[in-house]
Amino acid sequence: MKVLVVGGGGREHALAWAFARSAKVQTVLVAPGNPGTAAEGGKIRNIDVDANIDALADCAEREAVDLTVVGPEAPLVAGIRDAFDARQLPCFGPSKAAAQLEGSKSFAKHFMARHGIPTAASATFADAAAAERYLRSHGTPVVVKADGLAAGKGVVVVREDVDEAVAAMRTMLSGEGFGDAGRTVVVEDLLAGEEASFICLCDGERALPFASSQDHKPRDEGDEGPNTGGMGAYSPAPVISPAVHKRVMAEIVQPTLRGMAAQSTPYQGFLYVGLMIAADGSPSVVEFNCRFGDPEAQPVLVRLRSDLAVLCQRALAEGLHGTSLDWDSRAALGVVLASGGYPLAYETGDIIAGLNDAVQHTKVFHAGTAYKDGRIVTNGGRVLCVVGMGESIADAQQCAYQRAEKLKWRAMYYRRDIGFRTLQKGVS
Ligand code: AMP
Ligand code: GLY
Repeated sequence: MKVLVVGGGGREHALAWAFARSAKVQTVLVAPGNPGTAAEGGKIRNIDVDANIDALADCAEREAVDLTVVGPEAPLVAGIRDAFDARQLPCFGPSKAAAQLEGSKSFAKHFMARHGIPTAASATFADAAAAERYLRSHGTPVVVKADGLAAGKGVVVVREDVDEAVAAMRTMLSGEGFGDAGRTVVVEDLLAGEEASFICLCDGERALPFASSQDHKPRDEGDEGPNTGGMGAYSPAPVISPAVHKRVMAEIVQPTLRGMAAQSTPYQGFLYVGLMIAADGSPSVVEFNCRFGDPEAQPVLVRLRSDLAVLCQRALAEGLHGTSLDWDSRAALGVVLASGGYPLAYETGDIIAGLNDAVQHTKVFHAGTAYKDGRIVTNGGRVLCVVGMGESIADAQQCAYQRAEKLKWRAMYYRRDIGFRTLQKGVS
């Protein structure tokens, strides 16, 4: 089997690496990939293709690809699955209509309301005066969200000052903040509890959940500072107890798949449910994403023992019935090494030292890296994700940090407390 992975970040490095472990896969092409996927060698090869959907479909056809898997949300929301279907090219990922679960927060909120799926109460606005009246009568705490895709930056959580919420809403609606993605806003109640990521492989009817995980979105230790795409993640997430797992499947995942199928937009692909688990164990949806999480993919996929390529093909054939996943029982924890200043302004082009200093039971996935004059340099906000494995989350954490300490560049920044929510509970 020949697999094409679309994307070039840490999640795509982990996906490519997972596909290469399949005995059925001879070649994994990554478009465009990164120096990490290039350095894997063996079955994995980067392919230089324009990032547009037609060019990717031409590539899949030319290379006789058996399975294309799309990493990031943007091509899915733009309709890559539909374009591949029209050319009879097998592509695992939701259609444009189904990807609206991530592509439009108001779509997702209305969908959840119709199907009784637990989520924060919300209201949707395109008019600033109406939104301001609502915000002032609602008061704080409150969450203001751009409706469309905003690369993880379109959410403002306001705990005290309602003027801040009004200002955020106005920036979004004016189009200054996020362009057209902000011309509709969703205003949501603040949910209390602990967040977790619940990612499933879906065939349109059935969902096979991956091992649970939890990421750390804020930049700084103690979950402080501005929100990022994720500064580290680990799996499993003990907050998803067997009882909570059962509730998430029954109250959220299954009604979502039934609801999407009932409106003739069945959901096939990775479905990422961002959850808030209340103190009493009740799960609510914070967000849906139409793809695997980043950096959740890195620790989750190193634990997966089942053949991901076969699973994706089965899901495409609506054949997940009776399938289960096999996991490495060890825990995995990934630490994101970022460029100082991320998620705001940061510099790139710094030479990365220590990439060859291997440490047992660790794996380094590349995200924002590039080649410059034959050296590997930083080329993004999130640069690397160092994953450690161990018998407990504490062991996995120790292992990951041992590896992280061997890596170095001029303005490297990383959190030293990934996993703290679980470790402080004394769970390991
Ligand atoms: P989103 O992109 O919708 O996942 O939002 C980004 C982050 O904002 C989430 O991971 C949460 O930490 C926070 N957030 C979003 N919506 C809510 C909410 N209703 N209650 C509490 N936190 C939220
Ligand atoms: N780690 C959060 C996300 O992938 O959206």
